[in-house]
Amino acid sequence: MCDQIQEYFDFVLPLVKESGKELLTAENYDVETKGFVYDLVTIYDRKIEELLIKKIKQRWPNHKFIGEEESEVNGIGNLTDDPTWIIDPIDGTGNFIRKLKITCISIGLVINKEQTLGIVYNPFMDELYTAIKGQGAYLNGKKMNTSGLKDIGKAIFNYEISIARKPSYYDLYMYRFKHLIKTVLGFRSLGCAVLGLCYVADGRLDAYQCDGLYPWDAAAGVLIVREAGGYVCDSRGKEFNLMDPNFLASATKTLSDQFMVIERKADEERLNARNAKQEFVP
Ligand code: IPD
Ligand code: CA
Ligand code: CA
Ligand code: CA
Repeated sequence: MCDQIQEYFDFVLPLVKESGKELLTAENYDVETKGFVYDLVTIYDRKIEELLIKKIKQRWPNHKFIGEEESEVNGIGNLTDDPTWIIDPIDGTGNFIRKLKITCISIGLVINKEQTLGIVYNPFMDELYTAIKGQGAYLNGKKMNTSGLKDIGKAIFNYEISIARKPSYYDLYMYRFKHLIKTVLGFRSLGCAVLGLCYVADGRLDAYQCDGLYPWDAAAGVLIVREAGGYVCDSRGKEFNLMDPNFLASATKTLSDQFMVIERKADEERLNARNAKQEFVP
């Protein structure tokens, strides 16, 4: 099995790197929206995903795929026990379009519903994050670990707010922020879920939280965080679910537990406020 995973890894890695290089020369391309004004797509998102799927399919015709752009047409199928490649051809498309260099290609492999391999490449920084289950996580071939932080008061925390246009999340954000700003050392919001996870893995960030994502935003990155010694749960402290991903990724379990104390306080306050409001509705 291990040799087999290594074979998958060795086959896919050059494809990801080649695709990444193409982004470096991207210019004068059209930008389309996919239904919402903030949901952008370029020819590069489509081309990269098509290439990865085509090449892997040629070599392993029975493998399955969940890719952001093809899901737009076919929907997200169920996750089976078959080897399934989960692809975000460009994570941080908004950043890419604005030449913010926090952009990457992300591909993860899930077998028997277990995350087994993750490859993430940011061509603009020439940073390659990789992990195979049970073998640690690497940045450009060098083994990496999370910061190991256990004190929320010293944490640099990334809260991803790029889906803030979804009204159902407004309240949740507001109450969390209210408590978090009094607690953490600093906030970031990178606009690239996958790299946010990788930065927890390499210790640049101490924790990263995001709601309302898709499998391709999390598949490779969550494995990379775990292989770097980090702790990942869903954003409410329950078990992380790859097919309905929202998460808190932390350098340590201790840090995660401290975030969850805040999460519960914020939640309680949010529900009390909601109930109070309802009482006064005529
Ligand atoms: C987006 C980014 C962003 C997150 C959004 C995602 P995309 O992915 O990961 O950080 O907040 O919800 O949709 O569209 O650039 O691949
Ligand atoms: Ca997108
Ligand atoms: Ca994404
Ligand atoms: Ca994308």
